[in-house]
Amino acid sequence: MRIVSGIQPTGNLHLGNYLGAIRNWVAMQDEVSASGGQCLFFLADLHAISMPHDPAVLTASTREMVAALVACGVDPDRSILFNQAQVPAHAELQWLLNGTARMGWLNRMTQWKDKAGKNREGASVALFTYPVLQAADVLLYQATHVPVGEDQKQHLELARDIAQKFNNDFASEEAPVFTLPDPIIPPDAARIMSLRDGTAKMSKSDPSDMSRINLTDDADTIMKKVKKAKTDPEPLPSEPKGLGDRAEAANLVGIYAALTGSSVEQVLRDFGGEGFGKFKPALGEVLVERLAPINARFVELKGDGEALDAILAKGAWKAREIAIPTLDAAYKALGL
Ligand code: ADP
Ligand code: NA
Repeated sequence: MRIVSGIQPTGNLHLGNYLGAIRNWVAMQDEVSASGGQCLFFLADLHAISMPHDPAVLTASTREMVAALVACGVDPDRSILFNQAQVPAHAELQWLLNGTARMGWLNRMTQWKDKAGKNREGASVALFTYPVLQAADVLLYQATHVPVGEDQKQHLELARDIAQKFNNDFASEEAPVFTLPDPIIPPDAARIMSLRDGTAKMSKSDPSDMSRINLTDDADTIMKKVKKAKTDPEPLPSEPKGLGDRAEAANLVGIYAALTGSSVEQVLRDFGGEGFGKFKPALGEVLVERLAPINARFVELKGDGEALDAILAKGAWKAREIAIPTLDAAYKALGL
């Protein structure tokens, strides 16, 4: 089993990023490496240039994301952790696959239609062809499995179509160049809401810093933010259906459950009937306890550019070792 998964580099990381995305990678790594498989995790920095972007911000975000991933438990010794830009085989294979991908296939991609909107003429060529880069990202490593959310299913289908057509057109059935990867549906990701408004997603874009717990927040800041979090005057219900129209309460209970690995039912069995005067300090303590080690490592790594460079250089080196034989086979199959 070889799993390949990418993440957009992003800065100002918060609890939502941790519980909704990063933590799933750590769980996947632990599961896959325990069963003798391998995970390749990459920062999708090449994808980032398909939309308007600030180069300095991209550099900083890529580094910050690596620091966060490692602080949260992605282990660069067990998993291969790297950024696309340092493995030129991604861009090279994309070009080779551009010969196989059809305009019609890409035209049907709903993300292209959504992201380009009415301004197709003004969209970058990269925005149109980035599903081909995504195909290269996974085919390069003979990935057997790729975790995909609902919005990425169509792109993985495309990667399979490209691999199949390439194998058909340029390779023999006995010696295909590419493995067709199967999708795996990641576990239901937690969706964490703002601490100031239970109907808005916790996000780095929210102008109020009180709306989110940042991975850089210290214990006092976390306790203060939880204390000030918006709630209602009712005590907690004893069953989940009692949270139905109480978005803020549901969010806080959900965070507690996600951090302690218990269910919402269990949390309400423990805290049902209690007011927030009791629940908030308990939640604050859990947050501090779980986030303190991550925070310490994250802040340390973020400030250590050399350590981050070393992690990425090592990851790129290991990734290239796997990528080059596939890339060579693709060139050869095409008569290049
Ligand atoms: P932001 O919304 O803060 O800009 P990004 O869009 O950069 O965050 O998201 C990076 C990753 O973190 C994505 O995989 C996204 O699904 C996840 N994520 C972001 N915010 C949340 C949230 N509030 N709850 C759960 N997952 C989240
Ligand atoms: Na966002």
